[in-house]
Amino acid sequence: MMDDAFLDSMRQAGDPLADAVIGEYIGAGEIPELNALLGRLHANLADPAGFPPRLAAYLDESSRLPSWADPARIERAQRMFTLHGPLFGVVMLFKSLPILYAGGKGGAQVLAMTGQLGNHYRRRASETLRFILDVMEPGGLGPGGKGIRTAQKVRLMHAAIRAYASAAEGWKGRLPAWGRPINQEELAGTLLAFSTVTLDGAKALGLGISGKDADAYLHVWKVIGHILGIDPRLYPEGAAQAKSFWKSLVRRNFCRTEQGLMLIKDHQDFLADLLPDKLIDRGIPTLLRYLMGRKISGSVFDLPKSSAPFTLLLCLVEFFHLQKLGYLIFPGLMRWARGLSITLMESFQAYMYAGKSKPFRVPPGLTQH
Ligand code: HEM
Repeated sequence: MMDDAFLDSMRQAGDPLADAVIGEYIGAGEIPELNALLGRLHANLADPAGFPPRLAAYLDESSRLPSWADPARIERAQRMFTLHGPLFGVVMLFKSLPILYAGGKGGAQVLAMTGQLGNHYRRRASETLRFILDVMEPGGLGPGGKGIRTAQKVRLMHAAIRAYASAAEGWKGRLPAWGRPINQEELAGTLLAFSTVTLDGAKALGLGISGKDADAYLHVWKVIGHILGIDPRLYPEGAAQAKSFWKSLVRRNFCRTEQGLMLIKDHQDFLADLLPDKLIDRGIPTLLRYLMGRKISGSVFDLPKSSAPFTLLLCLVEFFHLQKLGYLIFPGLMRWARGLSITLMESFQAYMYAGKSKPFRVPPGLTQH
């Protein structure tokens, strides 16, 4: 079971396969070559044969789905996501992505660290949604699927960032407490945020999700976790174990940090930029509070207060665990969120295809440590 001793050991674990590939490039001082390759991978459709042997070997090994991957469940999950894509988009941008900024034991710090390399916060948010669209697209995890290639690229990027952050002064002193940058515990936490936490958010917005759909959704994310190099001992069996695992990760990692406050502030500005109408902006902190919950929104993120009647009702919803009925209790907020979903997806697509997101580059100064 995922007890504290086991999770402590997972904090010290990176991703041997991808770390070795990145380590070789850094050791050989071939960072420009590495950046060129990350750029080509960024294009997603490059043929592995065109890559140097060490990378071709990585692409070959990491492209294999686990033996327990169930195509029927993968297809079911992708179909559900495609059917409700815009609503899942709202949940990702108002819950699953920002809630991770509460990870104050290295998580928020590494995001802030790379973010300072030039307004990268929004880029990560938009690239992460692009990633989810690629893996959730029907066939995205099939042979030659876009999702597999995007996941392989993200895994290499994480390894490059792990090497970069580990070398940073601020990290060295914190190694025992924070563990490795982008470590296995945090990777598992993000996998839960994108799966079981997202389903809770969709239910809180009134989407009916059957047990079979929920099981299929968790399954497809375990398959994605496998391609991302996440340790299989960290995959929850079912929905109940996923929920209790998430609770222990929140207990172990969530706290208020300067970096978390900066990231959530920028995230709200990003959402405001994505939404055309200034009137709408006022609803942003309310929907964030409704989906992320009062505790994280208040004590960890200091979100602007919502109206007294809304706050009182939300207290009752949370106290009596009525989140699933939230869509009946807050009809106005639900109408707003659903109306928002299409606008958000359109302006997000415009943002993504306007070339505003520059690919991540490993800083030239990085050397092996
Ligand atoms: C299931 C787990 C995860 C997924 C699916 C994921 C996905 C992504 C994606 C799609 C990107 C953008 C890639 C691009 O630029 O093209 C990204 C970048 C990044 N991720 Fe992750 N991520 C995960 C876990 C984590 C964790 C646990 C951390 C840190 C604790 C992390 C830190 C970062 C950082 C620092 C960047 C670079 C952002 C930048 O460009 O500045 N990721 N991730």
